[in-house]
Amino acid sequence: MPRKIIIAIDGPAGSGKSTAAKNIAQKLGFTYLDTGAMYRAITFMALRKGIAEDVPAVIDLARNIDLRLQFDNGVTRVFVNDEEVTDQIRTAEVNAKVSDISKIPEVRAELVKIQKKLGERGNIVAEGRDVTTVVFPNADLKIYMTATLEERTNRRYKEFKEKNVEISREEVKENLAKRDRLDSGRAVSPLKKADDALEFDNTTISIPNELDILIDKVKEVLDGNRKSR
Ligand code: DC
Repeated sequence: MPRKIIIAIDGPAGSGKSTAAKNIAQKLGFTYLDTGAMYRAITFMALRKGIAEDVPAVIDLARNIDLRLQFDNGVTRVFVNDEEVTDQIRTAEVNAKVSDISKIPEVRAELVKIQKKLGERGNIVAEGRDVTTVVFPNADLKIYMTATLEERTNRRYKEFKEKNVEISREEVKENLAKRDRLDSGRAVSPLKKADDALEFDNTTISIPNELDILIDKVKEVLDGNRKSR
C-alpha cells in the first residue's frame, strides 16, 4: 500500500479549485477538505450574532466554535454546534464579509490547527488560499488554479442565476476582483503561488479534461512513491 498522500490546491475565487478538488477526491476515494467553508462558517456566525466588526469577539467565536464538515455526494455539509448551515454560508452577505474575517491572524491560527489535524490522516485533497503555502507546505502535490477574471465572473454569475439570486454580472465581477485584492494583499498568509506548485489555468479546459490531467499528475506522485520504496 503506497504512503497516504496530501494534495493541496490554492487559487482565487471562481478558479474552479472546489470542483477540481471534489472530483479528484471522489475519483480516488480521498477526503475532501474545503477550508473556505470553515472561514465562511465563522463569518456567518459572526454576522448572525452581530459581532462581525468586533475582532476580539470574532476571535473568541473561532476559539470556541464546534465546527464539523461532512462530505456527502459531492456536497460539503457544514454544521455549527450541530445546526446545518450549508446554504447560509454561501450568501452574498457572507461573500462580502469573509475576506475581512479571514485576515484576522488568531482566526487563521485556530482553523489551520484543525486543518493540519485533519491532514494527519492522509489521502486528502485540501483547497483554499494558503493550503499549499501554510497549512500543508509539504504536500505531495501542489496546484495553483487560475482562470481569467472574465471566465470566473461567468461561472459565479451562472451559479447565482441558478439559485435565482438577483445580482448583476458587473456586481459579481466587482465582488470577485475585490476579494482577489483582499485575499492576495493581506499581511497574514496571503493567496500566492507556492514556488513548487503546478500552475494550472483552466480558462479554456473542460471539467472532464481537467480531471484527466490532474489524475495523471496524482498518479505520477503515487508512482514516484512506489519507486522510492
Ligand atoms: O474558497 P471560498 O471562496 O469558499 O473562500 C472564502 C474566503 O475564505 C476567501 O475569500 C478567503 C478565505 N479563505 C482563506 O483566507 N484561506 C483559506 N485557506 C480558504 C479561504
